[in-house]
Amino acid sequence: MTQPFKRHRRLRSSAGVRRLVREATLQPSDFIYPLFAVEGEGRKEEVSSMPGVFHFSLDRIKAEMDEVVEAGIRSVIVFGVPDYKDHVGSEAYNEEGITQQAISLIKEAYPEVSIVADTCLCQYTDHGHCGIIENGQILNDESLALLGKTAVSQARAGADIIAPSNMMDGFVAVIREALDEAGFVHVPIMSYAVKYASSFYGPFRDAAHSTPQFGDRKTYQMDPANRLEALREAESDVEEGADFLIVKPAMAYSDIIRDVKNHFSLPVVAYNVSGEYSMIKAAAANGWIDEKSLVLEMLTGMKRAGADIIITYHSKDAAKWLSN
Ligand code: PBG
Repeated sequence: MTQPFKRHRRLRSSAGVRRLVREATLQPSDFIYPLFAVEGEGRKEEVSSMPGVFHFSLDRIKAEMDEVVEAGIRSVIVFGVPDYKDHVGSEAYNEEGITQQAISLIKEAYPEVSIVADTCLCQYTDHGHCGIIENGQILNDESLALLGKTAVSQARAGADIIAPSNMMDGFVAVIREALDEAGFVHVPIMSYAVKYASSFYGPFRDAAHSTPQFGDRKTYQMDPANRLEALREAESDVEEGADFLIVKPAMAYSDIIRDVKNHFSLPVVAYNVSGEYSMIKAAAANGWIDEKSLVLEMLTGMKRAGADIIITYHSKDAAKWLSN
């Protein structure tokens, strides 16, 4: 033989060796499971565009939480879907709102579970936008105070982590100040720092009843073509006091997950969003893919890209698959 060559296959020669040299691993504690709470009683209704994802009324949440905890998952992100919506999203900061009630209930029954509260206005406004509207414009500074109020009401209800998702400039600074003033200095902020205006959110808007009634979210969510902008967004959130940085969506944005991981020293969270979930469920229902191995491969890819934590609708399934 004239040319010497490397034998890469040595490290793949058996399952045992492959396990030893594996770089990225997945475990149930990596996952945050999204939970949708609705008003009423006795409701467990499947979201039509998200098979396996349900709306739960408060009396049905415990049964679901038992399964979540049993699967080894120790964190949930709560989305309340109120019946009543108005121009200023009053239910978002109603201390007795559906989100606050769901948080309190979970906190009391499962004190060991970390509850993340999604802090936004879009599920609560009649126009479906994430901030206050005037003459067709989404106002930035006027929306901030409401976000601060929302975050404080969620922390009061028992949220362990506040996750603002509305992409107004300055939201981390305002929420940090509001939390501190209300005595919640120890409650961390998991900022949706890098959130793109994405078609992958389509099924979520069915689930959260939050489709904008006019226009789109492109004046506040980011242009999918931009990479440097992601660093600017993350940088200002770090300066304002963010404790975690979310990149959203995840699948088409692994370069961004890696960039954020390399540039900042905070934990990075990948949000594996609704459309990413629904595409896999549809393909699996058609028998076109092997759901289990594909989901685990995708989630492993997100860890490899640099995510420390993954928010995913696949959490329960993935956690079960990992433990057997
Ligand atoms: C609220 C919010 C959205 C998602 C999480 N929080 C919707 C949006 O911005 O339109 C999307 C989650 C998903 O698609 O799974 N602002």
